Amino acid sequence: MASRPLTPRRPWEDRRVVLGVAGGIAAYKSVELARNLTRLGAQVDVVLTSSAKEFVTPLSFEAVTGRAAHQSLFSAGDSALHIRLAREADVVCVAPATANLLAEAAHGFAGDLLTTLLLATEAPVVLCPAMNHHMFRHVQTQANLEVLARRPGYLVAGPATGAMAYGEEEGPGRMLEPEEIVEHLGRALAAGPPWSGLPVLVTAGPTREPLDPVRFVGNRSSGRMGYAIAQAAWRRGAAVTLISGPTALDAPVGVERVVVETAREMQAAVAKALPGSRVVIMAAAVADFRPAATEASKIKRNGAPFEIVLEANPDILVETRRSRTPGAVVVGFALETGDLVTNAGAKLKDKALDLIVANDPREEGSGFEVETNRVTLLDQEGNTEELPLLSKAEVAERLLDRIEPMIGATGAASRTKGGRPRSRSR
Ligand code: C5P
Repeated sequence: MASRPLTPRRPWEDRRVVLGVAGGIAAYKSVELARNLTRLGAQVDVVLTSSAKEFVTPLSFEAVTGRAAHQSLFSAGDSALHIRLAREADVVCVAPATANLLAEAAHGFAGDLLTTLLLATEAPVVLCPAMNHHMFRHVQTQANLEVLARRPGYLVAGPATGAMAYGEEEGPGRMLEPEEIVEHLGRALAAGPPWSGLPVLVTAGPTREPLDPVRFVGNRSSGRMGYAIAQAAWRRGAAVTLISGPTALDAPVGVERVVVETAREMQAAVAKALPGSRVVIMAAAVADFRPAATEASKIKRNGAPFEIVLEANPDILVETRRSRTPGAVVVGFALETGDLVTNAGAKLKDKALDLIVANDPREEGSGFEVETNRVTLLDQEGNTEELPLLSKAEVAERLLDRIEPMIGATGAASRTKGGRPRSRSR
């Protein structure tokens, strides 16, 4: 197999992340968070509260980040550590943010390195609450969270609902998983015009056309390309609706996912989500045909050949032509096994697209069921851009880079929540 290009490193690469760790059992997950961010190329400065050290050691963080983990406001030889870390940070994340930390932050306490740094920084702050569900539901914690969520530049990410530590019943208070927090930090780093608040519609995955209750006609699409696009658009600040055929993938963080099965269900879901969408990216591998009849019970074998009559499915992308938002950027995909550019160019015209993403599944590292893709982008002006073999996540980034200047001036929606200017890295 070809060497696998790395996961997307934008927007984390070379960015400074201060990871504040407060004293909760979820702190063990923060080691993985620090490791994931470091792998994405971020420079992670960990700051532990004194109670965090009861759960996890500074050494664990140093081992995964390759950088000093900080514990004290009064480090020898660096009296302005809190100011330096606060100033250099591109984003500050507190994970876990305990009930005590939230109370301190809400009221502006500055008794240790982490809380002092929170007052001193101008970077966006992402708080990831984690605590027992009774503590989370407590009226005081809720009041603190309300204050913090309203604060410009602050984002409260989570908590999730799930099993609690100490054998408690389920409830809200579980810290988000490290991969989800990574995405929230990505959005804090990358969101900005023209994407912030922009309604974006993405289709992904295969469709399944039932023959009987257990069998279907389908294809090998994994959904990975469309999911990567949906995630990348959300990271840039978009309000993303993902209409997905059946896949094994988790819903992208922050994205509204609508799961459908057949082409006709996908068509109905697209029709519903289309009004107002400013960018439409159809990455789904829609089955072109469906069985003319679906049997109500399982078809039995009787030794004789079995014929399936197929009828054409609607072309969802073509059908959208009448109801597209004026000025919307519409992007299609074309999977071609010959004459890539000619065939994709014809589809660009027939389907009235602004851009088409063409690829040949027979090329190594391309197409279905792989993490990578080699694509060619074609536009209405006849420009073709051949991209190298990249991870699907990086293809998604390049595609959005290409779409960005095509988004009309009216597409510049409201700024990201919170008033602080966001630096962007692309
Ligand atoms: O014509 P072809 O299937 O190659 O076109 C691919 C493009 O059209 C993709 O963007 C795909 O999502 C879309 N499509 C569709 N409905 C179909 C077939 C394809 O929306 N029935």
